Amino acid sequence: MLGVCYYPEHWPERFWAEDAQRMRELGIDFVRIGEFAWSRLEPRRGDWRWGWLDRAFAVLSAAGLKIVLGTPTATPPKWLMDEHPEITPVGEDGRPRGFGSRRHYTFSSEVYWRESARIVEALAERYGRHPGLAGWQTDNEFGCHDTVLSWGAQDVAAFRGWLRRRYQSPEQLNEAWGAVFWSMEVGSFEEVSLPNLTVTEANPAVRLDFRRFASEQVRGYNRMQAEIIRRHSPGRWITHNYMGFFTEFDHFDVGEDLDLASWDSYPIGFVERFPFSDAERQRWYETSHPDIAPFHHDLYRAVGRGRFWVMEQQPGPVNWAPWNPVPAPGMVRLWTLEAHAHGAEVVSYFRWRQAPFGQEQMHAGLNLPRLQELSPGGLEATQAARDLAALGPLPATARAPVALVFDYEATWVCQIQPQGASFDHVELVFRWYEAVRRLGLDVDVVRPGASLEGYRLVLVPSLPIVNEAAAAAFAAADGILLFGPRTGSKTRNFSIPEGLPPAALRDWMPLRVIEVSTLRPGVGVSVSGAITGAAERWVEHLEFDGEPLARFENGRPAVVAQGRLLYAGFWPDGEALAGLLQCATAQAGLATLELPEGVRLRRRGDLLFAFNYGPDPWRAPFSPSPLFGEVEVRPRDFSVWRGM
Ligand code: GAL
Repeated sequence: MLGVCYYPEHWPERFWAEDAQRMRELGIDFVRIGEFAWSRLEPRRGDWRWGWLDRAFAVLSAAGLKIVLGTPTATPPKWLMDEHPEITPVGEDGRPRGFGSRRHYTFSSEVYWRESARIVEALAERYGRHPGLAGWQTDNEFGCHDTVLSWGAQDVAAFRGWLRRRYQSPEQLNEAWGAVFWSMEVGSFEEVSLPNLTVTEANPAVRLDFRRFASEQVRGYNRMQAEIIRRHSPGRWITHNYMGFFTEFDHFDVGEDLDLASWDSYPIGFVERFPFSDAERQRWYETSHPDIAPFHHDLYRAVGRGRFWVMEQQPGPVNWAPWNPVPAPGMVRLWTLEAHAHGAEVVSYFRWRQAPFGQEQMHAGLNLPRLQELSPGGLEATQAARDLAALGPLPATARAPVALVFDYEATWVCQIQPQGASFDHVELVFRWYEAVRRLGLDVDVVRPGASLEGYRLVLVPSLPIVNEAAAAAFAAADGILLFGPRTGSKTRNFSIPEGLPPAALRDWMPLRVIEVSTLRPGVGVSVSGAITGAAERWVEHLEFDGEPLARFENGRPAVVAQGRLLYAGFWPDGEALAGLLQCATAQAGLATLELPEGVRLRRRGDLLFAFNYGPDPWRAPFSPSPLFGEVEVRPRDFSVWRGM
């Protein structure tokens, strides 16, 4: 199904009915509104202006649209900031961040929690039972523009409170943090400062706790909104729109308080966000890389415990990346169908009409600025609506054969202590995801500790802290488990585990990591044996009691196996990664199909989709002929088979 983001407050009221009518004609069922409208709802404290939103609800629902209402807390209005300047977040450099864009609040501000509760309650009371209301979105993109962490007086006070609850006494805090190192011990919680503005690197244990604390703040703030909404809005679902390549808080935790996940998919904008090579950026500049959107679909399906939407879909060029190409013809349609293939319930475009004013006036919409006229992206959305109608109701998404363990805390650990400048956890995870999908396999992303039963292959690219739940899930898994570097390398308190890494795994395999060598770009160590290729970036010195599957050029073990467990002690280059996955999929007994770099498959129930991001047609080796599209899958197009 399709949706769209709409801002009635940006347009003359006489546009609304025609807009709504045209949305329906295009095939749109859902419309998201309201998420930045605080200054129009309450221009002065207590001066409520419901009239326009009442009328917008009436017009949109009369046209048959189902409404998703966003809470406007990403944009506290000027009068509120003037009344309570302490809402302002503080940058890591210690300077307050200004008014004049959005997300100018710190999660530590008690005043802001109160004010947020007040506006959410007012909205929920007024619209919570409106027959046109389908569901809610809390706030907008928590953490966008680097706003999870704030570094001011209120933040340090809140952090101290959190530490007090966690550690009970300064002695236990000092012990956990290894604060004897460099005389960092404190005599009371009041002596704790934030890990910024230090002369050199701050204690990694403090930094990790600060990240955990901040993540829990986001969770608490979202839950506060969700609880208010639930009281006034029975039978409506609640979601939040997460972002791409964003890991500053634990989305699995936030997701536990919501009914479904949603995310904002800007596939081309994200090409510039990920550490791709220049050659890759050039190759994918107008289509995006074929795993960017799918990786997030699979991630957010997990965050939403099976349910997710794309809340904002790129409909044309965006405005916020360093360069903003127009998507290649066909891509808006392809992305729309692809999200559905990965299980999306709704794909909602951002936005209905390009804004002629404000920061995003160069960002495309489904309609040209100021006009009732579809943009090129709008025309493709129209085609996507027809395609979806032709496909009819889609079957339920089944469990994939491969699970990929992804952990937010792991990304924090690797950011806090990269050890080698190019160790980027998300990049490693993404490359493993890409490599397994190049073999034609579907992937479920799972959080550590989630049940792994039924997965033929479990990939753990890197999990520095293996907590008890994760260890128990690994022990209970019935498939092949492939672990990557740094797994089990840290305790919960960010120190080296007793008996050396990989903690937890050492219970199952006779393996120790003695030391680690990190390599600058351009330096590699060759790997040979059952897996060939090279190690880059990160190379572990493994001690293993047994015959390894592959060795480094100095003869030391590179890949080791014991029973169903495989461990690779390095960052694999493309060849070594492909080899590792061929080896693991073969052991798991999975049938694979090597795909060209621009082609990916995805199954939904008994439907098999093939998407072609590449410039050349791809002849699918499947028979009989497809239900939809051609057996020769056209560039920037897709085909669908049934019963494969
Ligand atoms: C998203 C955001 C929207 C809009 C959009 C532009 O990050 O939620 O409000 O700014 O990006 O691409």
